[in-house]
Amino acid sequence: MPLLGIRVLGDPVLREETVLVDAITPALQALIDDMFETMHAARGVGLAAPQVGRAERVAVIEVDGQPHVLINPEIIEREGTLKWEEGCLSIPEIYGDVTRSKRVVVRAMNRDGHTFEIEGTELLGVCMQHEIDHLHGKLFIDHLSFLKRQKVMALWDAEKDQYPNFVRDISKEVHDDDDPAHDDERL
Ligand code: NI
Repeated sequence: MPLLGIRVLGDPVLREETVLVDAITPALQALIDDMFETMHAARGVGLAAPQVGRAERVAVIEVDGQPHVLINPEIIEREGTLKWEEGCLSIPEIYGDVTRSKRVVVRAMNRDGHTFEIEGTELLGVCMQHEIDHLHGKLFIDHLSFLKRQKVMALWDAEKDQYPNFVRDISKEVHDDDDPAHDDERL
């Protein structure tokens, strides 16, 4: 299974709406498997299809050792608010506090096409909200205040040149010096 190139901020695909999945095919399942492998290699906890240049409405998540596949996910309940420091595999090294719902219930299909509901709080809840945003062309920086977003974009200006054509090649990265404090924040 190949590692997929991760698209970074600036690639228009990250701003596109995804397309509902209407059939579970071997090709879709292969995409899901490659997304898990890519997410693991990037030390992330969530990855959505647009981040690997794809239009399918699919995201993968792994929180507390529990993998979840979300096909056509929808938030059907939300409650409360919380603030969480988020990062994104498509905006490496950039972090910011985002206000999210404290608890969400998501309905989705799994890798086999079965519909299920999953409740999430804390990291799982934040991650599901972050990945579902990706599936509608939205990024965590969109939730920041104007000033914070300007700060973040200035930092990104110094980062972005490492990613020619907006592609991040995980197979060439060395993660030894990453800050482990951010291990749970690469969504
Ligand atoms: Ni993300």
